Amino acid sequence: MKALVLAGGEGLRLRPFTLTTPKSMLPVANIPLLYYQFSILKKHGINEVVVGVGYKAEYFRQFTGPLARKAGVKVYLSVEDKPLGTGGGLRNACGFFRNADEPLVVVNGDIITDFDLGRILAFHKERNACATIGLVKVSDPSAYGLVITDARMKIGKFVEKPKPEEMVADTINAGVYVFSPGIFDAIGPDNPVSLERFVFPHLLEKGMSLNGYIHSGYWIDIGLIDKYRQANFDILDGKVRFFETLEGGPTCEKRGEGKLLAGRKTVLKEGVRIRGRVIIGENCFIGKDCILEDSIIFSDSVIRDRCVVSGSIIGKGALIENDCVIDSMTLADKSLILCFSRRRG
Ligand code: GDD
Ligand code: MG
Repeated sequence: MKALVLAGGEGLRLRPFTLTTPKSMLPVANIPLLYYQFSILKKHGINEVVVGVGYKAEYFRQFTGPLARKAGVKVYLSVEDKPLGTGGGLRNACGFFRNADEPLVVVNGDIITDFDLGRILAFHKERNACATIGLVKVSDPSAYGLVITDARMKIGKFVEKPKPEEMVADTINAGVYVFSPGIFDAIGPDNPVSLERFVFPHLLEKGMSLNGYIHSGYWIDIGLIDKYRQANFDILDGKVRFFETLEGGPTCEKRGEGKLLAGRKTVLKEGVRIRGRVIIGENCFIGKDCILEDSIIFSDSVIRDRCVVSGSIIGKGALIENDCVIDSMTLADKSLILCFSRRRG
């Protein structure tokens, strides 16, 4: 069975990090996000994954193969020359699914979840549906796509990024879909086109059977800085049950008052104190007597002596010289912070 991961977005809300690294390749607990997706698909018997890419396609060409091998899946890239939207991205990948007469799983490339794909697939087949949309309940649906269902989970309405007065339910589109192969005929040739704003409402108008399936385990869209940080810390805290046992998955150690996950070849000099949750990528150097608190430091970064870094995300290859204080900041890759700087976000 094959699946498609939609990973072509620009990730504007995760700048500056997505200026250099596409969103689906950003490290989460030191592992590129796409690896988690490959792993969950593999766990549910999906051995071939098509990744729909556009923005920074070159990055995917370079790094997707090794990740797929590590996760034990075969990977294909469906490359878009221009942004096609989520619907256009699906249509562009249709050649990879041409001979399939079985349902197709599609996953947004910016989520981490322990979704039970077996159950949603079984539900899809039981209803003989055109599309089954994975849903999760959230307290504030405003950043997502609201999906309104009846008691039997038949979908009646979609409201993408609802306004306060439109928030009449708490179930949102989780970005996990099962489609029958006929979906490709339903998309039409227009491009770009959004699945959520156009294709789904259009299918409803035509009277097609669309159902929701509620997932009650872990789910997060990492597309905002705060959510990205939370996803990293949730993995460290073992909140995503599946990934605790993931082969090659993150393992952290308790350090003083905190928890530390440090990548290969990373050096912490004497007197470094860790508070809260701290994730440091590979090949980093943390100088003497630094205090690191609730922060994420990407690989190849250097933090020299006596610095305090708290509530921050430091991009790849940054250099923070001696005696700096970095508080609640997001620093782009290759940032240079001179001695004795005080930076507060
Ligand atoms: N291949 C391809 N081509 N992928 C795309 C494109 C494109 O042109 N545009 C966006 N994507 C990918 C993104 O990379 C991301 O993985 C996924 O599609 C969703 O796009 P986002 O831009 O992150 O959308 P969102 O988070 O605002 O909303 C979507 O996800 C929510 C759940 O996380 C919608 O599907 C909402 O309805 C949903 O609630
Ligand atoms: Mg998103």
